[in-house]
Amino acid sequence: MKIDKLDFIFSPTDLYKINICFDKSNNDFYIKRDDLTGLAMGGNKARKLEYFIQDALDQEADYIVTYGSTQSNHCAMTAAAASKLNLPCLLVLAKPDKEPTYTGNFFLYDLFDAEIVYTSTEEVSETIDEEIEKLSNKGYNPYFIYGGGHGNLGTHAYVEAYQEIISQAEDLEVNFDYIFFASGTGTTQAGLIIGKELQGGSEEIIGISIARDKQRGTDVISDSIKDYCNQFNIEISNIERKINFIDSYIGEGYGIANQEVLKTIKLVAKKEGILLDPTYTGKAFSGMLDYIEKNKIKDKNILFIHTGGTSILLDNTEQFKEIEERI
Ligand SMILES: Cc1ncc(COP(=O)(O)O)c(C=O)c1O
Repeated sequence: MKIDKLDFIFSPTDLYKINICFDKSNNDFYIKRDDLTGLAMGGNKARKLEYFIQDALDQEADYIVTYGSTQSNHCAMTAAAASKLNLPCLLVLAKPDKEPTYTGNFFLYDLFDAEIVYTSTEEVSETIDEEIEKLSNKGYNPYFIYGGGHGNLGTHAYVEAYQEIISQAEDLEVNFDYIFFASGTGTTQAGLIIGKELQGGSEEIIGISIARDKQRGTDVISDSIKDYCNQFNIEISNIERKINFIDSYIGEGYGIANQEVLKTIKLVAKKEGILLDPTYTGKAFSGMLDYIEKNKIKDKNILFIHTGGTSILLDNTEQFKEIEERI
């Protein structure tokens, strides 16, 4: 189905085979460069924002409001998209325990002149309601985007991206057996699953959780799929069975990378010149390699979707000094 969107990203994003051998099982690895979507420092959020900002304009909104953490890719990308369309942007941020460093996404918020309101994690939704009310009282027509670009429009962006992947696979004459990526709110994963169902695809879609446990992650993805199907009159059966959300690589939690993740980031940087980040794509890539080994996956075509996050790599860089061995 066709949904109107703005056109401010580079797509199709490149999809190509990576030449370094990541394991001894004769698997071929491919990467889709959704980190190079062209808005700010790129990433999956740019695809979603083409739909959200179009919807905001359709509703004659004149203020964009969203929320996230002090190092949120979604907030930085929303601030960039809003600024590009000449719309002011207000970010409700969960107040961190210590003063944030003026780097990465926190720096980007400022660069795009986003307005920041801090709140505690428990009071996020209350604060959002209050800020929206304040803006409305001042005569604005604010448009709210859920954290991470969650919602049917965000899901739709990855229904479309799935079609893009399949047409690139046809051009390369390859059938992917697996598609791996970092899964947070699960919106990207919901979109890919729906895309696959609509096209009758056969790949196994595997989201590597960066924070949520399996039950919660699966429930949220399932709800996203159901919401989308209800809105667009689509039938997908046995939804839960189609969701493969792996929570074995969360480690100590959101934003905390262990040695394996840091080493993987360094390996991929050195061998391919591709930058992953410690919170999302590094965790997912390193999780993917372990999953392949543990499940004895051999002779397969494996696609990794690089969903962005480059700006986070440039925050908290000291942790890389702790990598024990040389790669
Ligand atoms: C770089 C990156 N990768 C993956 C994700 C997860 O995307 P989703 O929330 O659609 O699961 C995010 C979300 O913040 C992200 O910033």
